[in-house]
Amino acid sequence: MPLVAPDNPVHDIKWWHTATVYQVYPRSFCDSDGDGIGDIPGITSRLDYLQRLGIDIIWLSPIYQSPMDGNGYDISDYRAVAPEFGTLGHFDRLVSEARARGIGIILDLVVNHTSDEHPWFLLSRQATDNPFRDFYVWRKPADDGGPPNDLQSSFGGPAWTLDPTTGEYYLHLFSRRQPDLNWENPKVRAEIYEMMNWWLDRGIAGFRMDVIDYIGKEVDREVVTDGPHLHDYLKEMNASTFGDRDILTVGETWSATPGSALLYSGRDRKELSMVFQFEHVTQQWDAVYGKWRPKPFDLAGLKTVFGKWQLALARDGWNALFWGNHDLPRAVSRYGDATGFHSQSAKMLATVLHLLKGTPFVYQGEEIGMTNMPFTSINQYRDIETLNMHRLQMEAGLSPEEFIRGANESGRDNARTPMQWNATQHGGFSSGTPWIEVNPNYATVNAEAAMTDEGSIWNHYRKLIALRKMHPVVVYGDYQPWLDHHPDVFVYTRTLEEVRLIVVASFRPSEVCLTMPMELLAVGKCLIWNYEAVDRVETEMVLRPYEAIGLLTDA
Ligand code: GLC
Repeated sequence: MPLVAPDNPVHDIKWWHTATVYQVYPRSFCDSDGDGIGDIPGITSRLDYLQRLGIDIIWLSPIYQSPMDGNGYDISDYRAVAPEFGTLGHFDRLVSEARARGIGIILDLVVNHTSDEHPWFLLSRQATDNPFRDFYVWRKPADDGGPPNDLQSSFGGPAWTLDPTTGEYYLHLFSRRQPDLNWENPKVRAEIYEMMNWWLDRGIAGFRMDVIDYIGKEVDREVVTDGPHLHDYLKEMNASTFGDRDILTVGETWSATPGSALLYSGRDRKELSMVFQFEHVTQQWDAVYGKWRPKPFDLAGLKTVFGKWQLALARDGWNALFWGNHDLPRAVSRYGDATGFHSQSAKMLATVLHLLKGTPFVYQGEEIGMTNMPFTSINQYRDIETLNMHRLQMEAGLSPEEFIRGANESGRDNARTPMQWNATQHGGFSSGTPWIEVNPNYATVNAEAAMTDEGSIWNHYRKLIALRKMHPVVVYGDYQPWLDHHPDVFVYTRTLEEVRLIVVASFRPSEVCLTMPMELLAVGKCLIWNYEAVDRVETEMVLRPYEAIGLLTDA
């Protein structure tokens, strides 16, 4: 049944409005050949699983040729597949097998930087007059011989490295093995667009764009995000590549505000479909130590942020909804209770997110409630950011125990431990030794167990994903928040013409007694619940720990 957005002057209807995206981190998803590293044939072998879950799109983290200094976010050949992941033939087969199941593949477009092993960089560093010199950002040393300015790398330390061959510094806003491309050079942009078209012609369904808010940077003024040419470049990219193709594009934009999100994703802007904003993530961080010292969880703050974004993009633009990705801790560990109320809290979080307006993104393993990893020694971590931070923080005098506590709460490896398929060795991820250890809870938290249990987190996700396809109110309904200041419950409504969806969710590990606003008192049909179906909203309600319901009523 085609979805009609009744009386909806707001959004042109797009196929990705009803879609749910599933992010695969190839290295950790499924290893088909026993080398301990997940690969493309492994992903293909799990397509039936993803089809049963009901997802429409797979976003693949980078699969390109790479020395893997940053797990593939350091690309040395944009048109080749990393041998540990497979071949182009494997990729083409994945695309066609996925398509046969109604699933599209979107690729990670990493074009703010390349690997230092990319031929462009190898040539660029040879001589100041090399034709590829301007593909990257080179500057002479400051008067004292030090870096040209104070720009810092996101992974710690200066963003400049001195290259002895020419005695100049090159810019890397991430690791020194990820030199930044010079987007001011039209030849760079033309090469990238050509490469994008090459992949689009292979039948992909879109791109997730890595740190795309960086590409308009103005190095000499130390402006990194939202530089003056950012939106010109995106318009140019759109016109030169996907503008006339019906694909999904989502930008990773840590700097996005509701205002800039409208620039990226506004109806008439001809830029992107949507962007990931991170305000709900960064809001929980310490002002000085950032994510390494998260603040106590603050639901009222979280609701304010979600509400602000829901309202700001209500008439134009579009939200990308997510709790987790390969850079963030596991959602149930961060926002729920992974020990006391694992199943209830994972389902509650899914309910709250999937019934908002926007396109939901599920990070691999989230659908079975995978949790943070209890590492005990620095030798178990693999993530370049965590290892860099460890070095810097040890130098600064932090105790090893304190560092590990922080890394286990916030480090990126939490999301990167292997997918837990079943209760056999290494969770069924690999017959060899996995590149990073499997979370020891795989015996109970695994896909096989989840799929056979009617009441599992997995089945809850499946229902939510299906609801979006069945009820236009989930897709287009207007958002309204209730009980804004309540510290423990998240209540909102979505209204479309004569239909209203009421979502009530508790973030508390104990009972909450609630007095509901008069306007919400209603009887209806319960679409989703994590204890029992509730058919009405009453003046006094008692919510059990992490209880959540979605009730369909008349408006
Ligand atoms: C993005 C990616 C992250 C990567 C970084 C540099 O933030 O999500 O994983 O390390 O960009 O490419």
